[in-house]
Amino acid sequence: MVETGIDNGVASGAIRASTPTHTIHLMSEKATLTYKDASIDLPVIVGSENEHGVDIAKLRDQTGLITYDDGFGNTGSCTSDITFIDGEAGILRYRGYSIEELSEKSTFVEVAWLLIHGNLPTRTELRKFSDTLTEYQVLHEAMKHHFEGFPSNAHPMAILSSMINASGCFTRELTGPYDPAKFKRHSARLLSQVRTLAAFAYRKSLGLPIVYPKPEYKYTANFLHMMFSMPYDDVKLQPEAVAALDQILLLHADHEQNCSTSTVRMVASGRANIFASAAAGVCALWGPLHGGANQAVLEMLAHIRHEGDDGTKFLKSVKEKEGGKRLMGFGHRVYKNYDPRAKILKANCDKLLARLKKSDPLLDIALKLEETALKDPYFLERKLYPNVDFYSGIIMRALGIPTEMFTVMFAIGRMPGWIANFKEVMDDPTSRIYRPRQIYTGPTIREYLPIEDR
Ligand code: ACO
Repeated sequence: MVETGIDNGVASGAIRASTPTHTIHLMSEKATLTYKDASIDLPVIVGSENEHGVDIAKLRDQTGLITYDDGFGNTGSCTSDITFIDGEAGILRYRGYSIEELSEKSTFVEVAWLLIHGNLPTRTELRKFSDTLTEYQVLHEAMKHHFEGFPSNAHPMAILSSMINASGCFTRELTGPYDPAKFKRHSARLLSQVRTLAAFAYRKSLGLPIVYPKPEYKYTANFLHMMFSMPYDDVKLQPEAVAALDQILLLHADHEQNCSTSTVRMVASGRANIFASAAAGVCALWGPLHGGANQAVLEMLAHIRHEGDDGTKFLKSVKEKEGGKRLMGFGHRVYKNYDPRAKILKANCDKLLARLKKSDPLLDIALKLEETALKDPYFLERKLYPNVDFYSGIIMRALGIPTEMFTVMFAIGRMPGWIANFKEVMDDPTSRIYRPRQIYTGPTIREYLPIEDR
């Protein structure tokens, strides 16, 4: 039998330095684990928002036991200074700044700097960062040939992940060991080029000529320009549309140890370079239970409309778990309350459609689904609320971004968070390769049978 008893006291003030920048406090209280006839004390650490964790690093050495936590639902894989989430209260902060305040007052590029470098930039830092992003936005001309090799119906997430790695090949110094002195340049190159790669992937999927970025445009405006202009005719950029997309990118910029960010940290822990780590993040983001949910939400809403349903029939089939159906854009591993990003997007959805003089029947279906689900015991008991993906797709649709590109937009937005987490792993002198354990459940030793005897 295993028992643990954690005495939740106040932090003792003892400090264990983890990296030059972040510290964890060691509690004077211990968690006690009793197994068979022996009891061992396990250290309890506490973070800056008073979250407590039992440090089990020495557990196996001392008892032969490992911990088991399928899906890592209750496992802290690292300490981090970047993003704080309180899922019960619906709080999200980047480097201590609330998502509500940042989404109202800041921009994606400013937030990217904040996440990567830890503080809001000064005017000079921001200008230099912006100039560096402009400097790196053009891809090596040879990269164009790589796009030719994909079938025209290739998913843009497949193209994006491959092209990020391919683009890394054009920076030879990346293949050497991590060099903090070069990090600023490499990370700016990656952040700048991801949107060029994404726009080129889109143009390729439509068989349209590639449009080069314009140095006079800022980050998000340039992306829309590369997506929608023609070599002979520039798209007229509406400031509302640029601001709405910029806000979507900002809201996606980081979200602590989710599936893709943990993947980036995992790959980085083996000391792979920043482009390889980010390409792995793109692959991890792709699935419908993670970043692919924004595409799945729109497909779900379109399906409901196509069936002539107002959402009632669909919700019934979700509750009956028909074919494993889920209400996409609902539920979250961490949020057991309204996702604060969904709240911001919902409030802006209506306003944006009005400003762009557009209406969308899918928004009506989404609002009805949300209203019904939030009164239904199935969703209430399981604490399932709208997540960021529930409304982001409707906004992106209004901006003319095709459904297949939604997850790519998420990847562009999440890049600062991936880069910040990559840096945290690389800068931590105590960081080790990520290597979880397992409980083996396969056959015990078997004797090899020659093929004629099987
Ligand atoms: N619709 C219907 N039921 C759901 C949903 C949903 N969206 N989400 C969870 N449930 C149910 C499960 O069926 C389960 O029910 P049970 O207790 O009767 O078995 C219960 O709620 C718990 O679900 P889990 O799968 O254990 O929750 P988990 O934390 O593992 O999953 C996840 C979280 C993947 C986000 C899940 O809620 C989901 O699939 N949501 C839909 C996809 C989605 O929107 N993903 C985007 C997440 S945000 C992001 O990555 C940006």
